[in-house]
Amino acid sequence: MTDTDRSFADETVMRAVELPQWGDADLLTVVEHPVPQPGPGQAVVRIEAAGINPVDWKVRTGAYSAAFGEPFPLILGRDFAGTIVTIGEQTTRFRVGQRIAGSLRFAPRLGCYASHLVIGDAAVATLPADMDAAVAAALPVAGLTAWQALLEEAQVTAGQRVLVHAAAGGVGHLTVQLAKLLGAEVIGTASARNAEFVQGLGADEVIDYSTRPFEDQVSDVDAVIDCVGGEVLEHSYRVLKPGGIAVTMAARPDPAPAEALGVRTSMVFVRPDSLQLQGLVTLVQQGQLTVHVSQRYALAEAAAAHAEQQEGHVRGKLVLMP
Ligand SMILES: NC(=O)c1ccc[n+]([C@@H]2O[C@H](COP(=O)([O-])OP(=O)(O)OC[C@H]3O[C@@H](n4cnc5c(N)ncnc54)[C@H](OP(=O)(O)O)[C@@H]3O)[C@@H](O)[C@H]2O)c1
Repeated sequence: MTDTDRSFADETVMRAVELPQWGDADLLTVVEHPVPQPGPGQAVVRIEAAGINPVDWKVRTGAYSAAFGEPFPLILGRDFAGTIVTIGEQTTRFRVGQRIAGSLRFAPRLGCYASHLVIGDAAVATLPADMDAAVAAALPVAGLTAWQALLEEAQVTAGQRVLVHAAAGGVGHLTVQLAKLLGAEVIGTASARNAEFVQGLGADEVIDYSTRPFEDQVSDVDAVIDCVGGEVLEHSYRVLKPGGIAVTMAARPDPAPAEALGVRTSMVFVRPDSLQLQGLVTLVQQGQLTVHVSQRYALAEAAAAHAEQQEGHVRGKLVLMP
């Protein structure tokens, strides 16, 4: 165990950003509790960084309240990177001192916006000692969504033309890079201020969606990976080749308009997956995949982080540093 791990292990106070009711970002409040104890099969992680995803602010507003019941106080956040400081009885999956990144199932009640987290069945990947915790925490949901959209839904292969909407965003910037690694020709949509960034990710072409409709600027696409939804998805059917597919992640699509144009549509609903996450960590470690963290916020700045994420123009990812 390193000195850092030992000092984590000595901590007795857990800090967490709690949400007392559905509502605005200014409800997010830092509170202190005793560090939790792990049950059988569980471990306690000292979180070094917690990834922020758009689903977090959507949950905060009550958009998924039907799935929750009475969860308050709620701790948001699905993605984390940190070090295991304690394990429970009969815990064989984790060991003290192990540095991991992980992802919790959809909308946990006790999530990752905290200094400590109890895990049991979370999808996790082992991290190299020198990997930046913010980078690792920014990877799981966005990276797994990109991976599952490209490989499981669209089944992209080398030589195909792939259009990525919101190519500068959390999911989009990883999708562009993974599609290039698969050997695809990649076109990304972004505003002009992000054109250079998206080009730097390896995109063959960047379309400025804000000046002219993207559907007037691109055609003959095999697969669209849509990180925006709504009209952007509907207009995407027109740029696909016959039989092409538009994979969205915003909301479940109506297949009828796609079928009427001889194309397909589907939705990716990200699934935590340890093997895939380990694969993504390896790509980052090898320098083949870059996770862009545009801003690191302290726990006490969670409201500001949510406000920025909710604006919808983050480049790459935001993280909290507990
Ligand atoms: N179903 C699932 O399992 C799943 C998983 C992950 C994410 N999601 C959802 O997928 C969406 C994307 O997630 P994310 O993390 O990538 O979001 P994000 O990081 O907040 O996306 C921000 C990016 O969107 C771009 N953008 C905004 N409007 C655009 C438009 N009309 N056309 C092209 N680009 C546009 C912005 O670029 P500019 O500043 O250049 O405009 C910005 O870089 C969210 O709704 C999220 O909730 C769903």
